[in-house]
Amino acid sequence: MTATKTVLQAPSDACPFDDSASYWDFGDQRGRREDPIHRIHSYPAKFPAFITTKALEHAERQGVDVKVVADVFCGCGTTAVEAKRNGKNFWGCDINPVATLIAKVKTRRYRDAVLGRYFEAIQDEFRRIQPSPDDRAWITDRIRYWFDDRNVDDLLRLDRAIRQRVPANSTYRSFFRCGFSNILKPTSRWLTKSIKAQLDPHKSPRGVMEAFTEQFALMRETCKQNRFPARAPKVHIRTRNFLAPAAPACRADLIVTSPPYVTSYDYADIHQLSTLWLRCTSDYRALRKNMLGNQYRVPAPDQNAIKDLGPTVEDTYSSLLDKERRKAHSVGRYFLDMDKVVAKCRKMLNENGMAVFVIGNTEYQGVRIDNAGHLADCMQRAGFHNIQKIPRKVSLKIMTPYRDARGLFTRDSTQRRVYGEEFVIIGRRR
Ligand SMILES: C[S@@+](CC[C@H](N)C(=O)[O-])C[C@H]1O[C@@H](n2cnc3c(N)ncnc32)[C@H](O)[C@@H]1O
Repeated sequence: MTATKTVLQAPSDACPFDDSASYWDFGDQRGRREDPIHRIHSYPAKFPAFITTKALEHAERQGVDVKVVADVFCGCGTTAVEAKRNGKNFWGCDINPVATLIAKVKTRRYRDAVLGRYFEAIQDEFRRIQPSPDDRAWITDRIRYWFDDRNVDDLLRLDRAIRQRVPANSTYRSFFRCGFSNILKPTSRWLTKSIKAQLDPHKSPRGVMEAFTEQFALMRETCKQNRFPARAPKVHIRTRNFLAPAAPACRADLIVTSPPYVTSYDYADIHQLSTLWLRCTSDYRALRKNMLGNQYRVPAPDQNAIKDLGPTVEDTYSSLLDKERRKAHSVGRYFLDMDKVVAKCRKMLNENGMAVFVIGNTEYQGVRIDNAGHLADCMQRAGFHNIQKIPRKVSLKIMTPYRDARGLFTRDSTQRRVYGEEFVIIGRRR
């Protein structure tokens, strides 16, 4: 597919590489594979690593002196890793504690011999202990819903072994917690590869220690590679709501980020096994509260504020009201929040800095939700210049863009088409 570039303001600084408009579609010409560190923990909605390297290259060619890169929805740390690999300081935040755990682990260095020693100690402890009544008392019905009794006991033993044998608050504790988190779906009855929380009654969950041993081997091997420069840049990753009132403690030259696409993923739902087992919360639903695009208990947004966002937003909102009030409120709130996000991003940028947003459009019951158009409008309102909205083809690792009602990929072209195209939206701060 040859994508066409939509230019919102005639760009005096049009990207010299995107004449073919495929600049943002694929990785580099040499077809280099993504660094395996990006695969140590699954994270739905992760974007390809080359987006960051391309954004960096583009920004520098456009004269941005990039010293600090930020990602205000940093997810599992794709931008963080790539920024650090390229010798740039990084600041990022995400509201999801599982995301920031993974991002931190991926951007740190570990000593192989120390990893090996801790792993052996964990194995010893695991063999030695049984869950105590206190451990079992902590297990909720929600956990029992996903796991059989044997795996519940083994996960309790493993969790305890990690806590007893790896020092609290150490980078090594985070490493093993991250590994623990990534074995939760395979050791449960979670429907494999589904982006919806669904039970698979036919699944045989994997054994806990077998899955953990394999996960450890993968992470250890990956961490052996020396991917960061000798004088490592600084990386700050925070678990926080980007829209919380306090200003982020960072000024960036380049923001590379991908906000949630409204009506797409429910992050609290998809990460519930990890947030529960890692004891981030006793009720995973609590994490929905400040998630952008949250669909639960969202009060009706102020009609005048919606009107101020322009006719497209107003039309979308009223079309959704005709379908489902709850959805309309959620999308209306999301549009208002995105306006604040973009204004806050502009404030975070140093003069002459650049923001690169990646976002896709969505649809609900036939109502098209133009997330990308809205974001570009927000950028104009916030005072960005030289705004470009460039379609990019989504590279389909799984070769099919269709998902069935259970959220699984399918080759059936009568099913919902989810991927195909998204947008890279770029703007400058003068
Ligand atoms: C599209 S994903 C970003 C994925 C990321 N680019 C990566 O490669 O992993 C959007 C992220 O926004 C986060 N998020 C949602 N609401 C947020 C908020 N209010 N503040 C900070 N992060 C939020 C979600 O937890 C999710 O990780």
